[in-house]
Order: sequence, then structure tokens, then C-alpha cells
Amino acid sequence: MTNRFLKLLSFVFILSAVGCGKNNDTNSANETVERRVETLLRKMTLEEKLGQMNQITSYANIEDLSNLIKKGEVGSILNEIDPVRINALQRVAIEESRLGIPILIARDVIHGFKTIFPIPLGQAASFNPDIVETGARIAAIEASSVGIRWTFAPMIDIGRDPRWGRIAEGFGEDTYLTSVMGVASIKGYQGDSLNNPTSIAACAKHFAGYGAAEGGRDYNSTNIPERLLRNVFLPPFEAAVNAGAATFMTSFNDNDGIPSTGNVFLLKDVLRKEWKFDGFVVSDWASVVEMITHGYAADEAEAALKAINAGVDMEMVSGSFVKEAPQLIKDNKLKESVIDDAVRDILRIKFKLGLFENPYAKEGSNTVCYDESHLQAAKQAAIESVILLKNTNQTLPVKSDIKSIAVVGPMANAPYEQLGTWVFDGDKAYTQTPLKAIDNLSKCHNIQLIYEQGLTHSRDNNMATIAKAANAAAKADVIFAFIGEESILSGEAHCLADLNLQGGQSALIEALYKTGKPVVTVVMAGRPLTIEKEISQSAAVLYSFHPGTMGGPAIADLLFGVAVPSAKTPMTFPKATGQVPMYYSHNNTGRPATRNEVLLNNIEVEAGQTSLGCTSFYLDAGFDPLYPFGYGLSYTTFSYSNIKLSKDKFKSDETIKVEFELENTGNYQGTEVVQLYVQDKSGSVTRPVKELKRFMRVTLQPTEKKTLSFELPISELAFWNIDMKKVVEPGDFNLWVATDSQSGEAVPFTVIQ
Ligand code: NOJ
Repeated sequence: MTNRFLKLLSFVFILSAVGCGKNNDTNSANETVERRVETLLRKMTLEEKLGQMNQITSYANIEDLSNLIKKGEVGSILNEIDPVRINALQRVAIEESRLGIPILIARDVIHGFKTIFPIPLGQAASFNPDIVETGARIAAIEASSVGIRWTFAPMIDIGRDPRWGRIAEGFGEDTYLTSVMGVASIKGYQGDSLNNPTSIAACAKHFAGYGAAEGGRDYNSTNIPERLLRNVFLPPFEAAVNAGAATFMTSFNDNDGIPSTGNVFLLKDVLRKEWKFDGFVVSDWASVVEMITHGYAADEAEAALKAINAGVDMEMVSGSFVKEAPQLIKDNKLKESVIDDAVRDILRIKFKLGLFENPYAKEGSNTVCYDESHLQAAKQAAIESVILLKNTNQTLPVKSDIKSIAVVGPMANAPYEQLGTWVFDGDKAYTQTPLKAIDNLSKCHNIQLIYEQGLTHSRDNNMATIAKAANAAAKADVIFAFIGEESILSGEAHCLADLNLQGGQSALIEALYKTGKPVVTVVMAGRPLTIEKEISQSAAVLYSFHPGTMGGPAIADLLFGVAVPSAKTPMTFPKATGQVPMYYSHNNTGRPATRNEVLLNNIEVEAGQTSLGCTSFYLDAGFDPLYPFGYGLSYTTFSYSNIKLSKDKFKSDETIKVEFELENTGNYQGTEVVQLYVQDKSGSVTRPVKELKRFMRVTLQPTEKKTLSFELPISELAFWNIDMKKVVEPGDFNLWVATDSQSGEAVPFTVIQ
């Protein structure tokens, strides 16, 4: 489904919701909402207010749930997905509770509801915000069709450590890419208006710094100084506020000793005062009472007090607000006006969602989920998310004289595993696997297909079945090996200390390599894995992350050349786990690596010791990653030329125009992700060696050459400086327009006062 079609669909719904032809003036609509909030708030008892601040998780006994709702003790329920039950609960809220305030039904709809799109890290590899927006729009259409009106997405935590299992759930290591993708996702979920019945409220999470968990171990402490927080971790959240994100979720981590759920600086000073956020803030699951375990609160009363006073409006599942706030108010520790503010924030979103007018979902057969147009959009997203990492001698796409193909590996036909993390509702029965899709295409091309799984799952270690698979594969002209990670090996709390392939997968690739036949390795994983050896044993490598429901046909199209790869690494791929955290946008040391360093195996025994001339690198891994950020090949090739700036000196209120030529120098139509990086060469504090500032996808026919341009306002070079002020500091800069973060020639320019 095209974006335009989706927008049209949203528009039709808005028209029917507001009345065709009415001039929907935003200001007056906001005023109406504010008036309705105040009128309702005035009627509420303290208990009813605290009820709105209480989110519970669903459970089987509908009578008990109904009783709580009837008494006004619940504002939101998470994990209800049955429209009949949702409607029944909503009816109790509307018709049987004193004030008739609807319940907000929430669910983790992370990369699709029923139709599953590639994991967000995969979608980030597309560098295409349109597929992210379309995916989120489709997820919203499907989820809202059963009555879900709030998702806990997007996750816009910057992740620079692939050991962290939740790296799968975000858009990678880069601040700018994550900001762009986060905004696209919010637009998709929320549509043109929250009031559209197919819109669901987005939730920017986890605020903040969660992705910097020490050692990549989930929930762990972070130690991000304010400047780094503001320069790297907060911009995607500020962009989310500007894009109209309805809600924010606090993160589990404590940063510099302060858990986010009790962090006044983050939730009040930055989010409310600086950014003017007017949605509501939900805690993460039990993160209010977990402040006791953190050692930041002595008991539930103190935890509730700290969270409410910090600015948490709704408590997810741990119930301490409802339990403790009345006494805290009686004891004059907590002001009721603070509760009122929280309830205002929540009611505002409920009104904006149109829940009071339109609380019920459609029951009966669901014709929305898995619509053919949704499946096709998921396929396109998967095509654009698969990175071609290696293609020796143009092994791919497979040549027309191929007579037989062997498909091998635990991920070739794993309908559940290819969906990835955070899949609660996607049904594996709808998954189209690579095996099935390759089988279809092989039949069209009269190619014989040999299938041997080799290993039953990614952690399987059976050497006998590996040998059997290699024997079978040796008879084919080319081998497609599908390896990676089962979906449960990434995601929340699923961190790894070792990023090598699990089980016998490395041995499987080795055995296939030894057949002498070209091995095309396809990796389906939730994170970058350290696969240097396996890459060296493969003629070609595609990295598909977990590609979702339609991953099979997408990969098959790429293998056969029906589609051409265009994705780029959304984070640095390390050679060895010991290199992480590793990211392109690091600051320079005083002794940067020269790449001429003597590595482990070349050091003489009893070599003399000196620190003179020493540089920053690893003896056993050098300095460079396996693949830098922004890297990815195509079946065609591109050449950049004539990169020119509009001038070489700019004032801080001016805009740089960069013109360049891009030519398709190969034999296929292809899409290049052009990237623009900038370096601020010296400042009042040290600055990253490069920062991504713009990107674009450009499709060219063979031999086609285009003159293209980027515009970059100098104001976007601002950073939080020595005085903790966001400013552009005059001085010398470098700029690159290049195919990845390690390529291209620097073009200098200067910013003057
Ligand atoms: C905990 C996770 O950290 C959060 O991302 C998620 O939305 C909630 N649980 C609700 O499932």
C-alpha cells in the first residue's frame, strides 16, 4: 500500500469522524479539549483521579476487572486484544462507572500487530522513513481494529552495544537516523489526527539513556553525563515531542544514580519546561516500585511520592499511586494539584483520541488484519531492510544457468523465528519463509531445489546433521545457508556476552564452504553478530535481521535479482565482542589509530616497551570494525563526483547547499543511500569525528547520472557546549557526501560569526 493511499485512508476516516466539510481548526479543537478536561476534572473525587493514573494488566476474570472499572479505579489496561472483551470492559467504564470515562487499551505493537514488519533495527537499515511510517500506519490500522488505541512504541533509545538484547527494538546507534525514524513511526501510528479511529497513541520510550546500559546488560545502570545525554541521547525524544507523540515512557535504568522514573531533571525540566510536552508520561512496568530495589526509595509510599512529584502521570501495573497517594496527601507530603496535573495530561489524550465519542471496536470477523496490501507493504519493507555485505564475483543475483540450489540452515524455514522479538500477536501460520519462496521461484526457473536443515534451531549442535546437510549441498550449483538467531535470543532481557554464532552454525558454514560450492549466507538476527570468519567462508552475504511475516519472498526476490539490495548498516558491526561499544560518531583520542599498528601475531618476543608513538587500537582486533555504520552494497555500483558547497564560509543563520553528482556505474537499476556527514574540527569541548546530518535514497538506471543536492542549515550544527548551551561555535568544519561513514573525501568549510 502506498503512503499516499494510507494518508487518503486516514483522511477519509477523519472526515467521517469530524463531519464532512467542517473546518477543523486545531486551536479551537484544543480549547474544546482543555475545557472538557477541566469540566470533567472538577467532578472527580481523589480516588477517581488516582484511578485514571492507574494502568493494570489484563487478567482472565472479567468480573473482577469490571468491578475495578466500575469503581473508577482503572485508567488504562494493557494486553487486552479481544474486541468482545474490550467492548465489554469499555461498556462498564462508559455506562456503569460514575463519570463514564473510557479505558485506554494499550499493547506493545512494536513492528506490526498481526502483519509483522522487519524488526525496527532492520527497518532502520532501509534509511527509508516512508517504510517505517507505512509499517506503523498498518500496525495502527490492524491494532485499532480490535480496540487497541495506544502502543508502547517507538523505542528511540540510542543503542551502541549489540550485546544489549533490545538493540533489535530501536533504530540503531545514530542520533539523527533514530530521530528521523522515530518521527516517521509516530506519524504512522498517530496518523493525521489522533481522533481518527484508526490512529493509536504512540509512546516515545524509554526516557532516557536506557540503551547505554553498562556492559550491554539490560536494566543496568547508565552513566551518561548531561552534555552527552543532550547531544546524543535526547534529540530523538525532542523530535518525538515536536512530532506530537502523545505519550512518553520512563526507562528502567538509573543514570548517575537517579532512576528515570524519579528523575525531575528529565521529566520536568527537560520534557515539560524545555520541550513543552503536553501528553502524558507512563512509568515502565513496575518501574515505580523498582525504585525501592534500586535503593532510591525506602518503601512504596516514597517510591510513589518521588515518581508523581517527578512527573510520572500513569503507573504501569505496580499500583502504588492508588494505594499510597491518599495518605501522602493527608500527610501534606503530596499536593492534590500535582495529581490534578497528571490527570489533566491523561484526560487530554483520551479526549484527543476521540475515546469518549468512539469507544467501541468492531466485533465479528476481522477483515483488516493480514490484508494483502499489508503483506505487500511488509514485503517491500523487508526488501529494503536486507543489507548486502559481500558479493564476491557477483555471486548474486543467481545466474540463469544455475541448475540446482541447496537451501540449508536453521533459519531457512523457521516461521516463528523470522518474526523477531516483541511478537505477541503475529501468527506464524501467515509467515512466508525463504524456503517456501525459493521453492516457488526455483520452480519458475526450472531449478532443482535440495533442502537439508542441517541444524534444527540456531543453538543446535548436531554434527551428524551438519555433515548430512553438507553432503546434500555438495550436489548443488550454489548453496543458500540461512543462519542467525532465534527470535528469543534478542529483545528485552535477552542480552549476550558473546556475539558469535550460536550452536553449530559456524561449523555448518565451514562444512558448506569445504564443499567448494559458492555459499551465499543469509543472516537473520536481532543484532549485529561477529561473523568475520563465516563471511570469509561465504561468497556472498545478506544480513536480513529478523525480516517479519514476508521475509521469505523479500529475500528470495533479492537472491534471484527480482529486487536489488539497497540497505545500509544502521549500526557498526564489530569484528569481536570485545570491541563494543563501538560507533562511528566517537570523539577522537589524542592518539588516533593509524591502521599501521603492529598486531598481536607480528609482535616480536621480548619486544621493547615504549609508549611513544602508541595509538588507540586493540592488539587482537585492530581499530576498524567489521563493517562501518552506513555500509551496504548493491548489485550495481555508484560513483560520486563534483561535490561542491555553495560557498566556503557561512554565517550561523545561513544554509549550506551541497551539490554532487551520482552515477550508476553498474549493470542494474539500483538505489543508493547517499549520506552527508559533518565534523566540527575543534570546539569548546571535543566533538565527534563525524556526525550524520542528512541522507537520501536515490534510484538510478544503469549509466544514469544525476546532479543532486542537500541543504543543511548551519543551525543544525549546534551542540551543547562547555557552558551547557546549545550553540553553533564558529570555526572550521569538514563535510562528506559518501556511500558510508568511512568513505569519501572531506570538503572543508568555515562558520563565521
Ligand atoms: C517493559 C518494557 O521495558 C517496555 O518497553 C514495555 O512497553 C512494557 N514492559 C510493557 O510491556
